[in-house]
Amino acid sequence: MSMWIKRVAFLALAISLTATAAVAQNAPAVVKERQETMKGLWPNFYRGFSQAAKGESADVAATPAKTQEAVATLQKVATLFPAGSGREATPDTRAKPEIWTQRSAFDAALTKLVSETQKLGDVAKTGNIEAVKAQFAAVSEACGGCHGGPAKSGGTFRFEAQ
Ligand code: HEC
Repeated sequence: MSMWIKRVAFLALAISLTATAAVAQNAPAVVKERQETMKGLWPNFYRGFSQAAKGESADVAATPAKTQEAVATLQKVATLFPAGSGREATPDTRAKPEIWTQRSAFDAALTKLVSETQKLGDVAKTGNIEAVKAQFAAVSEACGGCHGGPAKSGGTFRFEAQ
């Protein structure tokens, strides 16, 4: 091997090692951020949506703007599952390895939640409570694409809490 090729090969190895180390070092912070963001979904947004679905009118009026905030938060969530942030790096994460082995299904589940949430905003603009109620059911079902509702529940993409 020429000196030049050796140098390039060494550089490539050094870069890939650095990249791996970066993921592993940031994993606990990323996991913490995604868990906190996920925990905030219900109190910050979806609890209000469930109240709107019960006909509490102030919540219906607030719903279109709130769904936009929820969507922005979900777009942020999409960036919080980098490769290497599963249990191999952070034992307390409940993210299942299937997130990375079935990435397109995971992304589709998130996209589904985004679109059902957007639809909820549109339906709320009409003020039709029955329609809001039906659409809220579709939103809840979309949470179920990754895990069950109850805090300790598991699912396709989340481990059950121990
Ligand atoms: C695209 C998949 C996906 C969707 C859709 C989804 N979640 Fe999650 N959620 C996860 C994963 C994965 C975790 C575990 C994250 C971790 O421990 O690193 C989680 C964790 C949580 C947690 C617990 C936080 C924690 O510390 O584990 C709550 C609460 C939660 N989600 C609420 C919701 C609600 C409410 C919805 C629907 C509005 C929803 N999620 C939709 C994937 C999803």
